[in-house]
Amino acid sequence: MTQIKSLRCRECKKEYPPIFKYICDECFGPLDVNYDFPSVNKNTFANREHTYWRYFELLPIAEKSNIVSIGAGMTPLLKAEKLGKILGLNNLYIKNDSVNPTFSFKDRPAGVAVSKAKEFGFNAVGCASTGNLASATAAHAAKGGFPCYVFAPSDIEHAKIVQALAYGANFIAVDGTYDDTNRIAAQIGDSKGIGIVNINMRSYYVEGSKTLAFEVAEQLDWNVPDHLVVPVGSGAMLNAICKGFEELESISLVNNVSSMHMIAAQPHGCAPIVDAFKKKETDIIPVEQPNTIAKSLAIGDPGDGRYVLKRLQQYNGWAEESTDKEILDAILLLAKTEGIFTEPAGGVSVAVLQKMIEQGKIDKNDTTICYVTGNGLKATEVLMEVLEKPQIMQADAAKISAMVR
Ligand SMILES: Cc1ncc(COP(=O)(O)O)c(C=O)c1O
Ligand SMILES: [Zn+2]
Repeated sequence: MTQIKSLRCRECKKEYPPIFKYICDECFGPLDVNYDFPSVNKNTFANREHTYWRYFELLPIAEKSNIVSIGAGMTPLLKAEKLGKILGLNNLYIKNDSVNPTFSFKDRPAGVAVSKAKEFGFNAVGCASTGNLASATAAHAAKGGFPCYVFAPSDIEHAKIVQALAYGANFIAVDGTYDDTNRIAAQIGDSKGIGIVNINMRSYYVEGSKTLAFEVAEQLDWNVPDHLVVPVGSGAMLNAICKGFEELESISLVNNVSSMHMIAAQPHGCAPIVDAFKKKETDIIPVEQPNTIAKSLAIGDPGDGRYVLKRLQQYNGWAEESTDKEILDAILLLAKTEGIFTEPAGGVSVAVLQKMIEQGKIDKNDTTICYVTGNGLKATEVLMEVLEKPQIMQADAAKISAMVR
């Protein structure tokens, strides 16, 4: 079966056969997967496996036998009653993608790209990563039997390096920014014939993140939310979420997609898209040296930045940033109200959500989705600096008992 019709240039709309290709020959624009979807309805998906592969007909893999799955997706959409009450929202939901198998949403794009690499017959895969994609790619590579080359800045969180190494990846720690790393990965991927999931496999990679739209729509009983708060690094995920909702509308699974509001959330120390949005620019000025505790969002020159700006315009959206202090406070607020422990990227979402409410952008009854995309256990360093460390006590019940109310 093949539901893929073509690859289509996002800029000039030129179409290509669905081969291994990611840039338009005419205008160097990015290529997107364009489908001829088979007939599906809500019942098609109802009793399927609890992973994002339940949407197989809407994903760019021709043969099911090429799927490399570690069981990612179909993560909880939790009604955040307590957090909502504090913030003044009656219909706030957390899409908790921090509980994926490698503990971030990156299992979605990495899984689709590694499956496509298998379909194309690649011998090795890799990625340029700010941390989470490293382990997502490495885990899928391990499952699919591929050697994996991970390129990442050397200063990312310790746990993210350990995790990728544990899955058996070759870890190339680059003394530089993510943009330096990305450039090197691109050159090596092309010269050595490696499927670099977020560079030369990008057209297929981004398709995985669409499932963040499919699942939310299905979990809302095939309704479209009013507001979606999305943490943004390269911008690929925000753009893919929009594409996902549009595709669902094209096959009549949802309607009213144009009523959604997209909200892009970035950390103050690396907010090139927010800066451009606020200045009403259409081009992004890269941040040379990102400086933020939200290392997974530290992408100074966001590949899909221009397209995020277009999406914000298309969906009457906003872009806002949060400082390191606001991020830490938001991580603790989410943990203490909803029992969800996120890494700084999720703190950025919650902090920006708060600002949107304060600014009157979200009405109290609007259905609002806050995407929490990475797990707190991956980035404990920053929190240990602000939390009070437990006092070490003698193993004496009487003394300890005095401390307990
Ligand atoms: C946890 C987390 N959230 C959000 C993002 C941003 O995704 P994108 O680069 O697609 O904008 C990343 C990127 O690495 C991430 O690791
Ligand atoms: Zn083109």
